[in-house]
Amino acid sequence: MKRNLVLLGPPGAGKGTVAQRLASERGLLHLSTGDVLRDEVARATALGQRAKDYMDRGELVPDELILSMVKERVEGRSGILFDGFPRTLAQAEGLEKIAPIDAVIFLEVDKDTVVSRLSARRICPQCGAVYNLVTQPPKEDERCDQCGTKLIQRDDDKPEVIARRFEVYMRQSAPLARYYEKKGLLIRIDAGRSPEEVYAAALRALRDDRP
Ligand code: AP5
Repeated sequence: MKRNLVLLGPPGAGKGTVAQRLASERGLLHLSTGDVLRDEVARATALGQRAKDYMDRGELVPDELILSMVKERVEGRSGILFDGFPRTLAQAEGLEKIAPIDAVIFLEVDKDTVVSRLSARRICPQCGAVYNLVTQPPKEDERCDQCGTKLIQRDDDKPEVIARRFEVYMRQSAPLARYYEKKGLLIRIDAGRSPEEVYAAALRALRDDRP
């Protein structure tokens, strides 16, 4: 199994869903820049206050803030699963100075699938568990299976913000697939399938890719 991995793909591709399982089964440190930023916003830290407007609009938080946030959390460590980072060429170049990357799993999915997945996503504000009212519903009506808390919708999962996030992804993050392909690191996965199938395909690809 590769050591430092990146999960790349549009909003709603299922990066977080794959990452949680892969990290816990393989003992990797799961670093989701989106989760870290939401935590900073919730605690109203200086970083959270600077990031909030960008996130509410579906825009990317500036590269220098993201790079220093990531560096602080991972420098000197290995076995990291980067989720939602890097998202720009500047971030990818910055990452090279922080941690060597062994493979990039690219979850490919079309815009219609993204919109329907994100519109139906609900999260637990207490423990962070992620659900989908259509594909992964909670057992009891809109309550977390793990802690019983009422589920909420992420602010940026409103239709107009989803559309903006997808546009931003196409313009600023999609070119990273080519960047990592040229480096021989890219593993393409059809993420339009069920969570089980996507996860199994990612595991298979990582095993086949072992040097
Ligand atoms: P972030 O939190 O990273 O959002 P994102 O990349 O838009 O990704 P999502 O969390 O929306 O989706 P996901 O791919 O993880 O899908 P999930 O597994 O949840 O970033 C949020 C914001 O923070 C950004 O807009 C930006 O402002 C800022 N930011 C973050 N990182 C940044 C960076 N590096 N640089 C600059 N700014 C940054 O699944 C989605 C739903 O689908 C769930 O309901 C799930 O249950 C369901 N689902 C998952 N897989 C499947 C499947 N295979 N089949 C059916 N349903 C599925």
